[in-house]
Amino acid sequence: MTLDAVVAGNRLLHYLALMLVFGSSVFLWKIAAPGLRVQIDRRLMLAARMAALLTALAGLPLQAGEIVGSWQAAVDPAVLWKLLSTAIGQTWLFRVLLALLLLAVGMLRQPGRLRGVAISAGVLLASLALSGHAAMDQGLRGFLHGVNHAAHLLCGGAWLGSLLPVLLCLRLLADPVAGGDASLTLRRFSSAGHAAVAGVLLSGAINTMLVLGRWPTDWSSPYQLLLSLKILLTAAMVALAILNRYVFVPRMKSAAPAAIDALRRSTLMEICLGMAVLALVSVFGMLEPV
Ligand code: HEM
Repeated sequence: MTLDAVVAGNRLLHYLALMLVFGSSVFLWKIAAPGLRVQIDRRLMLAARMAALLTALAGLPLQAGEIVGSWQAAVDPAVLWKLLSTAIGQTWLFRVLLALLLLAVGMLRQPGRLRGVAISAGVLLASLALSGHAAMDQGLRGFLHGVNHAAHLLCGGAWLGSLLPVLLCLRLLADPVAGGDASLTLRRFSSAGHAAVAGVLLSGAINTMLVLGRWPTDWSSPYQLLLSLKILLTAAMVALAILNRYVFVPRMKSAAPAAIDALRRSTLMEICLGMAVLALVSVFGMLEPV
């Protein structure tokens, strides 16, 4: 397997883990009915927090290998030590400490744990704006680019990371004990979700103008082709979200079992499309934005 493929794979795993932790902890903290927290929390969180730490740790060696262009450099202490003293190394160190904090906060006892996990995961996710193309500008433009990119990541995480707890809520709807809480939670989510979707679209468009300076219409450029595919997949996700909110949810009053089934399938499709969106950016985020 090539170094580039491993770097892209590590980026994808990092995005998936972080967006799941951030999105589901915000969902549990701010949207889920109190009775529902225990069930969703136990199943989803610990594995993703560990994955966020391990992929953050792997970031520096992989980047060393990429910069030098060899696997040896990824495990060469002299190269790693030298890289550690640069802005790349300092950002890596900061992010690894944040990932350790996230792991530790996750071990806390209720009531502050969810808030702590949501906030530390949010800071770790937003800190991706300290590197890559989002960090290529200086001065006021650099600051605004960073803020917009952080908003892009947090809105994307709030949307994608909530979809798995939503699936679990749909499964609990028929549960005689948790059904009422699950239905209340889904109603809350279907109104809160609008802000996350609108935020990721607006910040994505601004990102495109800041990084590329134009719409990605030149498909002979791998960067523009992959970004266009990402926009297309996001449009399909928005269409599914609209279908869920304005067709299937209202149908739950008259034909609940069929509507819940349709919601489950559509949410699963949204999750798969979201993973494909992250896979695309894991690759084109490493390419020259021309
Ligand atoms: C579900 C929807 C979306 C999600 C989850 C998402 C997620 C992401 C992630 C994780 C990054 C890379 C972060 C990094 O490593 O710094 C990113 C970058 C970016 N996104 Fe999105 N995004 C979404 C939709 C969009 C849309 C609709 C657009 C355009 C209209 C867009 C434009 C961009 C651009 C231009 C970048 C910068 C890529 C680079 O580093 O050159 N995104 N997005």
